[in-house]
Amino acid sequence: MTVACPADRGPVLRARGLVKRFPPDATVLRGVDLDVAAGEWVAVMGPSGSGKSTLLHLVGGLETPTAGTVHLVGTAIEGLGESARARLRRRSVGVLFQAYNLVPHLSVTDNVALPLRLAGQSRRQSRARAAELLARLHLSELAGAMPGTLSGGQAQRVALARAIANDVPLLLADEPTGALDTDAARSVIQLLREVHAAGTAIVMVTHDHRVASVADRVMFMLDGEVVDERVLSGEEDDPSRTTFAHLVPLEAW
Ligand SMILES: Nc1ncnc2c1ncn2[C@@H]1O[C@H](COP(=O)(O)OP(=O)(O)O)[C@@H](O)[C@H]1O
Ligand SMILES: [Mg+2]
Repeated sequence: MTVACPADRGPVLRARGLVKRFPPDATVLRGVDLDVAAGEWVAVMGPSGSGKSTLLHLVGGLETPTAGTVHLVGTAIEGLGESARARLRRRSVGVLFQAYNLVPHLSVTDNVALPLRLAGQSRRQSRARAAELLARLHLSELAGAMPGTLSGGQAQRVALARAIANDVPLLLADEPTGALDTDAARSVIQLLREVHAAGTAIVMVTHDHRVASVADRVMFMLDGEVVDERVLSGEEDDPSRTTFAHLVPLEAW
């Protein structure tokens, strides 16, 4: 039997020539290409309004581009109808936003089980899988808690568990530490590192160069275009992990 390794599947994401216009006269993306290999971690930086969130929405199939194409795990999303697109999205991408968006009247376990329920698993099966995932992510002690009782860092770690519950190969994270203090941000990044180490590819928008420095590659956007890109080596003491800060827009400081 041949076991396919992630590298054999090609890129988890391949976006070409993405343009997004909002009538009457806003052009938010002006032709962006983005390839993400299986297991790769890409950080996206750039000033407010440069199109970062719009790019994530397009590659996650949450919005439709004005022009350009998106392939998720080898499948072109533009040809798909609404329900096929929803299915592809569910099995291939998880999304994590700055606001955790946990369902307030459901426990942590039921929040994490929700995407599994939506994917058709039974209540019992999905709760068992949610419990397993919470254990793997060191969150078991929160399993019975209600979202309103969690700190920001805890809520974001639970939101991360929920985002990857369907074993998705790609996680899209839009300023996942933007609302957190340093310690809480660190705990979220630590968990993202574990998720990445387990093989999930990540595209992460951030304003924080320390957060971006954990990625394999950093892409800089300005006015709807990619204006610079930097590959970071695996070495913790790689000078570019700290010196690319000069490219960080001033508003981040
Ligand atoms: N629905 C919309 N209609 C018109 N303009 C929009 C809409 N959504 C976003 N924009 C504009 O697109 C630009 C980029 O937005 P966004 O992708 O959210 O940027 P970023 O995430 O980099 O801050 C902003 O100038 C914003 O005002
Ligand atoms: Mg944004």
